[in-house]
Amino acid sequence: MASLKRIRIVDLLKRTDFGAEVIVKGWVRTRRGSKTVSFIALNDGSTIKNVQIVADNDNFDEELMKNITTGACISVKGKIVESIGADQAIEIQAQEIELLGACPSDYPMQKKGQSFEYMRSFAHMRLRTNTFGAVFRIRHNMAFAIHKFFHDKGFVYFHTPLITASDCEGAGQMFQVTTMDLNNLPKNEEGKVDFDQDFFGKPASLTVSGQLEGELGATALGAIYTFGPTFRAENSNTPRHLAEFWMIEPEMAFYDIDDNMDLAEEFIKYCVKWALDNCKDDLEFLNKMIDKELIARLESVVNTDFVRLEYTEGVKILEEAVKNGHKFEYPVFWGADLQSEHERFLVEEHFKRPVILTGYPKEIKAFYMKQNPDGKTVRAMDVLFPKIGEIIGGSEREENYDKLLARIKELNIPMKDMWWYLDTRKFGSCPHSGFGLGFERLLLFVTGMQNIRDVIAFPRTPRTAEF
Ligand code: 4AD
Ligand code: MG
Repeated sequence: MASLKRIRIVDLLKRTDFGAEVIVKGWVRTRRGSKTVSFIALNDGSTIKNVQIVADNDNFDEELMKNITTGACISVKGKIVESIGADQAIEIQAQEIELLGACPSDYPMQKKGQSFEYMRSFAHMRLRTNTFGAVFRIRHNMAFAIHKFFHDKGFVYFHTPLITASDCEGAGQMFQVTTMDLNNLPKNEEGKVDFDQDFFGKPASLTVSGQLEGELGATALGAIYTFGPTFRAENSNTPRHLAEFWMIEPEMAFYDIDDNMDLAEEFIKYCVKWALDNCKDDLEFLNKMIDKELIARLESVVNTDFVRLEYTEGVKILEEAVKNGHKFEYPVFWGADLQSEHERFLVEEHFKRPVILTGYPKEIKAFYMKQNPDGKTVRAMDVLFPKIGEIIGGSEREENYDKLLARIKELNIPMKDMWWYLDTRKFGSCPHSGFGLGFERLLLFVTGMQNIRDVIAFPRTPRTAEF
């Protein structure tokens, strides 16, 4: 036994050298059998698949066998044998079983068919279930695919700060970062909090986006991408919002809005195809258990051209739908910020494929977006997806110093925050574009899960920061 190394179940299931001895370790998913023989389904997290352990009860200590219950952790030494069961090609005929960790009956993941809402309150244990195993293997694969996609294109992975002293982007409410004693705040002469005494000598927050610093990288390195956590403190309790989520933000010098759209479409298709090619077992499981149309939907996105549509045209379609009796909760009119119900109508009912919407009214978009000659719209782009709504937001950037400055003043954005950003336009300004993909929104799409809290291990949402 000493020379024998543990084999992962994903590797074990590929073997057919019957008679060979192996050691497997994992958690008991189920145990069934008779007085004389036990069938133990063992999983070690390396694959959605279990290996079946067959144990003749007579060969093992009764006390030990009592402890082989759902959730228990065991080590098994045995022989690979051909399985007569339809579900698997091989199984392990157990010779030695060691109990590594018993699992008492109050194990919260014991029962089958528990709701995701219930499991969320045991987020530290739900990782041991089939569904969450599949989700987190896919999450890993998507992260890997994203790095590979950009690396192969020569993009530089650029790390932008998580703590920031400016709120220029306005993408969302910010979480303040401070080392001051909240019960005893230092005050200045005006009676206001004296941030001069705070850690950074001024107010600081967690970032809502790495874009502004990303632009500094892109206008030096040519093309960069960020991939890190971002923080938004708005109180939006929806199945698509997190207070802490991961975002991928590529930023490219010399790209216009069309290049930007091309990249976004190629990028998402690459990720989805990666999942289809590399996460087959997990996707088949999710297709069976969560969403019967999942794989078909993924394939269809890889194989269709995304619609590209002006905001103005999109609003016309929505107004037409309202005329024809379609009911939306929120009103549609030119100038309105589209809600997820509007976005999903365009994607799921009207076009039946992903839509990239461009040319948004400048009032509802960020200050840095390139203004169109009409004076009303900007070169924004939102990529809208079935089941999700907005999955990507981006734009061509305003590279003209004067226009950008005018817009900053119009919006009363404090100049003391902006000088370094404006310098990119002052010194060797260049046309450039970029976008942000919400990583968990991508995962919602790829896994078919319904709630964004179920594609991140330890979700942060209003009033929830357990684990
Ligand atoms: O559209 P957003 O706010 O764009 C930006 O932050 C830009 N700085 C991106 C850029 O151009 N570099 O956010 C980008 C994406 C959204 O399309 C959505 O997928 C996701 O981030 N997102 C969220 N995901 C989860 N929870 C939230 N609260 C999110 N807010 C945005
Ligand atoms: Mg957006």
